[in-house]
Amino acid sequence: MESPALRLLQLLSFDAPRSGQEIADGLGCSRAAVWKQVEVLRSQGVDVVAVSGSGYVLTEPHELLDRAQILSGMPQPQRAQLKRVEILPCVDSTNAELQRRELSQQHAVCLLAERQTAGRGRHGRSWFSPLARNIYLSLGWRFELGLGELSALPLILALATSQALTRCGLVGHCIKWPNDLQLDGHKLGGCLVELQGDANGPCSTVLGVGLNVNMPVAKVPSGYIQQPWVDLDSYLPGISRNEVAAALISALVDYTIRFERSGFDEFMDEWAERDALADQEITLHLGERQISGIARGVTRRGGLRLETGGECRELHAGEVSLGQRG
Ligand code: BTN
Repeated sequence: MESPALRLLQLLSFDAPRSGQEIADGLGCSRAAVWKQVEVLRSQGVDVVAVSGSGYVLTEPHELLDRAQILSGMPQPQRAQLKRVEILPCVDSTNAELQRRELSQQHAVCLLAERQTAGRGRHGRSWFSPLARNIYLSLGWRFELGLGELSALPLILALATSQALTRCGLVGHCIKWPNDLQLDGHKLGGCLVELQGDANGPCSTVLGVGLNVNMPVAKVPSGYIQQPWVDLDSYLPGISRNEVAAALISALVDYTIRFERSGFDEFMDEWAERDALADQEITLHLGERQISGIARGVTRRGGLRLETGGECRELHAGEVSLGQRG
């Protein structure tokens, strides 16, 4: 692991203090350098307490991502489809990092980061990405399909994430079109598909998923996330990030391959089971414009079916809120 702050986090424990000297020996640096890294961790939201005469201790356990653990948690057929899984200590955005690589080096490569400094959300928003708490993941995938045939891909990503959460023992979660993961009406995670290619194929895609795993409210600067949100740990206390990552990568590989082979048809029933909007009054916000109606599921192309004024329209862009406007 490259980052000194992360190496320090690895050395620190939450049940017994480690002396400054012990840590300095472990990191191969001076005690002054240890203190500097303690400050770095604190500035990134990790509570490190100095216990007089004993050293440093964490106020809560932190599980770091572990490549070997993630790979061993994946079934062999899915693991065999991947070229590489990389864990980055800190990056601006895993999606951006993958896109900076040559196209030939993106396919079947999965990047995870402990922290993002410029995590990207949908609609140009930023994605809050504190150190060692959540999952920030991007999978590169090259499709032989053309751009038009990939319109349901964002929904596939959400379905795969949802299935991974079920595998981890979560119940009651659903998807708000096109790809928000929700629990009790609060956002648990989101997906961001970025793609480039040809109308007739091939297309290179970067499939990004962010999941709130262990993010106590006190760790989020007020007003930073502009919608109600939850983390997985509140429902599955002690859930392992490595376990979630293994389940997520496996599901993404599995769903992506099935989608490439057969399209969205075979996922329609699964969508209906997970659809947070089914038969609800909603408003779709398209920039300045708003369209209200009743959500009636999705089409084979991944469009939202919106019943309005007695007819059903298929919509492919915009942001949904519950309820009618105007
Ligand atoms: C949303 O707005 O709901 C989508 C959020 C997607 C966040 C993930 S975190 C990993 C990947 N890298 C990014 O910069 N964004 C996506």
